[in-house]
Amino acid sequence: MKIAVVGTGYVGLVTGTCFAETGNEVICVDIDQKKVDKLTNGEITIYEPGLEKLFLRNLKEGRLKFTTDLAAGIEEAKIVFLALPTPPGEDGSADLKYVLGVADHIGRLLTDYKVLVDKSTVPVGTAEKVYESVARNAKVPFDVVSNPEFLREGVAVDDFMKPDRVVIGTSSDRARKLMGELYAPFVRSGNPVIYMDERSAELTKYAANSFLATKISFMNEIAQLCEKLDADVDMVRLGIGSDDRIGKRFLFPGIGYGGSCFPKDVQALAKSSDEAGYDFRILDAVMQVNEIQKLHLLPKILRYFSGNLQGRHFALWGLAFKPNTDDIREAPALYIIDALLEAGATVTAFDPEAMKNVQQVVGDKIKFAENQYEALKGADALIIATEWNEFRTPDFLKIVSNLKKKVIFDGRNLFDIRAIGELGFHYESIGRRPVNQPTAVIA
Ligand code: UDX
Repeated sequence: MKIAVVGTGYVGLVTGTCFAETGNEVICVDIDQKKVDKLTNGEITIYEPGLEKLFLRNLKEGRLKFTTDLAAGIEEAKIVFLALPTPPGEDGSADLKYVLGVADHIGRLLTDYKVLVDKSTVPVGTAEKVYESVARNAKVPFDVVSNPEFLREGVAVDDFMKPDRVVIGTSSDRARKLMGELYAPFVRSGNPVIYMDERSAELTKYAANSFLATKISFMNEIAQLCEKLDADVDMVRLGIGSDDRIGKRFLFPGIGYGGSCFPKDVQALAKSSDEAGYDFRILDAVMQVNEIQKLHLLPKILRYFSGNLQGRHFALWGLAFKPNTDDIREAPALYIIDALLEAGATVTAFDPEAMKNVQQVVGDKIKFAENQYEALKGADALIIATEWNEFRTPDFLKIVSNLKKKVIFDGRNLFDIRAIGELGFHYESIGRRPVNQPTAVIA
């Protein structure tokens, strides 16, 4: 099938590449000439494991093309995906100017029936707005479908190729048939394509992300309570997670959720809910808990250093909001850096992928190390903010020889408490008992 994808950001590029992979002819459209040139020349513009290989193969075989020309891009396409940014406006609601701008333009260009698909995360009612924007100028029939994506950064290719489900929101049989054909190769294993109306599809995306964020904030509160009640959150997590109704996944406490989706989507759903005249109380609590959780390590660090971080030096492992990405949007590490600097401390950080991005934000306010051990040199303590695999089983001898003292504050619960205790570390994590707590705090 011939398809077009408008917007070559994260979602657009993954979508275009994965549709090309199943034999479709895909043209991706973007207004950014430099980006289009790069992509046309085989230079991938985002970091996503597994994507580059697929991207290069489909580019080489001519199934994946890039252009800045919207008219040429959509001319032969049966289905046109809109994968455009919907940044939060000042009031937290999603800004639709890019989506509606392109919809208006497409309306002027349509010469035959096409299905336009909202892939961006958009508030309930957007499909209707897109329809109106296109209809203002369109002289031929068309349909608008809401088809939210549920991709996780780091495993987006897998999520796209083998989705748990595909949600297609449309009231048109013609569009439904075409979308069903397009997605058939992706659901061979029997996972469902769920057809529904446009509004329900739009809400499904927000509900899914908000529910997952709620699960995380709930566990983060249980972790806080564990610390107060001298219980171990890992035990509680295993205890509740083996109940199928609760499930094992997304129960890991930490220093809060970040990224491009959860913070933005929870906020946008709260806002939509407000506008609809409903006070969605749980969402407010989810956001509040997450704000607190990002800095949950700070009181522990302060307590250990007798309330004074002036002149202290910290090693920070992990900057990305989660492993396998260079994305630092809403990353808890950034909040920790700010708090440490404000308290008069200095920081040397290491992250396998995200250092360049952080450098653009913080400049020379912190130092960056070549590898995880170099970051430790002369530091009073190690702080862990992202659970990269290479941090999970480090060479503890190297840690000991580089750190000034054996002190670790772990925001992702990476280490086994007993093992690290035997190595003589003072170790504090989230919702678990501190290890080798000094009787008197360090001066
Ligand atoms: C998320 C959704 O999972 C995806 O379906 C949607 O399309 C986009 O948003 P993503 O932001 O890539 O994907 O990351 P995800 O792996 O879901 O993690 C989100 C955040 O939650 C991260 O900050 C992660 O550290 C945190 N998290 C996740 C926890 O703190 N605990 C957990 O148990 C799981």
